[in-house]
Amino acid sequence: MLKTPDTKLLRTVAQDRAALNIIAGKMVGAQSGARIEIACPSDGRVFASIPRSGQSDVDAAVRAARQAFDAGPWSRMTATERGRILTRLGELVAENRDELAALESRDTGKPARQGAADVAATIRYYEYYGGAADKVHGSQIPFLDGYTVFTTREPHGVVAGIIPWNYPLQILARVAGAALAMGNTLVIKPAEDASLTTIRIAELALEAGCPPGVFNVVTGYGGEAGAALAGHPGVDYVTFTGSPATGTAIQSAAAQNNRGVTMELGGKSPQVIFADADLDAALPVVVNAIIQNGGQTCSAGSRVLVERPVFAEFTAELSRRFAALVAEPHCADGDLGPLINVRQAQRVAAMIADAQAAGIPVLAKGGVADDAPDGGYYQAPVLFGPVDPAAVLAQEEVFGPVLAAFPFQGEEEAVRLANGTDYGLVAGVWTRDGGRQHRVAKRIRAGQVYVNGYGAGGGIELPFGGFGKSGHGREKGFEALMDMSATKTTIFNHG
Ligand code: NAI
Ligand code: MG
Repeated sequence: MLKTPDTKLLRTVAQDRAALNIIAGKMVGAQSGARIEIACPSDGRVFASIPRSGQSDVDAAVRAARQAFDAGPWSRMTATERGRILTRLGELVAENRDELAALESRDTGKPARQGAADVAATIRYYEYYGGAADKVHGSQIPFLDGYTVFTTREPHGVVAGIIPWNYPLQILARVAGAALAMGNTLVIKPAEDASLTTIRIAELALEAGCPPGVFNVVTGYGGEAGAALAGHPGVDYVTFTGSPATGTAIQSAAAQNNRGVTMELGGKSPQVIFADADLDAALPVVVNAIIQNGGQTCSAGSRVLVERPVFAEFTAELSRRFAALVAEPHCADGDLGPLINVRQAQRVAAMIADAQAAGIPVLAKGGVADDAPDGGYYQAPVLFGPVDPAAVLAQEEVFGPVLAAFPFQGEEEAVRLANGTDYGLVAGVWTRDGGRQHRVAKRIRAGQVYVNGYGAGGGIELPFGGFGKSGHGREKGFEALMDMSATKTTIFNHG
């Protein structure tokens, strides 16, 4: 049996009472009564259940959000008051930090310290957007004689947030923080594999003073509750983080109503190591960027491009480190935990098997702890190299602890390889040459480029989003407030 902290929150959630939708400030089950059983990825055992919501549940949640936006106290509240509620929500998350971290870790299988790191980032998001709410303002535009023109930033209205299972607390916080700061109301559809902390946050939002109907949650499957929400005519804007294929489905659904969308669709992010780089500084960062959260991170550094003179030396040391990595249950707080579910474990294992069948050399393989429960979804880390830049492994997101190494020579080839996928989310450039730092960073097509570092996840203040297949729109930082609002221009003719 796995040991998990026996906290009040975990006990409450384990009973059916807490694992309910939140609609118009009330905790309710699916109207059909159907439920989805929730298993812990570390042992595959069911420990809770959530409502399996359908169209009528989504209708009720959208109606509640619509009403709260059109007529509720939320629409009359000042930006300062909204900000205070978000700030208070951040404080409540901090007060409940241990329980939230334990719950997130158990629900997703992520190591305990990652659960704690996710809660810390979550607190910062609500703090940041709480403070930002009344700092957004428009401008006055010089126009014709006799006119006064000004702009204001207006909320979209009802924002639908479809959230993935890899960082539920953090991704919810970046969506909810920015959307609520701008005065939108929310309907959130968390991932079926990781809904529990979302329900808890919506509960805390009510406690923080969010009026009923402002922050609604409907749990369920993507093809049911998710699809119903994405195409709902009562929704004004859709924000999504997840796979490109699901992103396409959601955009098509939203397009039926001509609604705006923000799409964060993952990546195949490169770390570029030049021969003059501080290799000792780069090594642990390169390992962490692919191991964090078992590689199930949109910004995972899943490709490492190494300049030829140091390729052998760098990959030898990387191999030594990979061979020592061990996947363990979340509560063991090891290098990495299990993957999220059987499907993801099978998908990652199949991509590894296909790469091997294609003849790509395995440079190193980590392990799975001997005492890891049989029912868990474990995958040992694998380092491949050298990888053909045209191989599936070089082009497709694995979303597991799998790193592909490539040799290159010179800046031209580095840039060509770095940009050689359909994605463009994050990149790392490692070199001591200042001119090259700027040249290469400028030419890499990615939403974030790190020089001599790589920040998977953190940096809530930093705008984040993709080019190409990685999606469009920007989350995090002040820019997210722009995505979560639209400009209104008011034109006075006063003669
Ligand atoms: P997914 O993209 O299908 O699921 C993410 C969310 O979308 C979940 O809440 C799901 O219920 C919802 N969803 C699924 N189908 C939907 C639909 N038709 N309409 C509305 N909502 C829908 O991801 P999945 O299947 O769990 O994972 C598959 C792959 O996606 C992973 O291997 C990984 O490559 C990628 N992924 C990327 C993430 C990122 O952070 N960029 C996060 C999760 C998955
Ligand atoms: Mg789960």
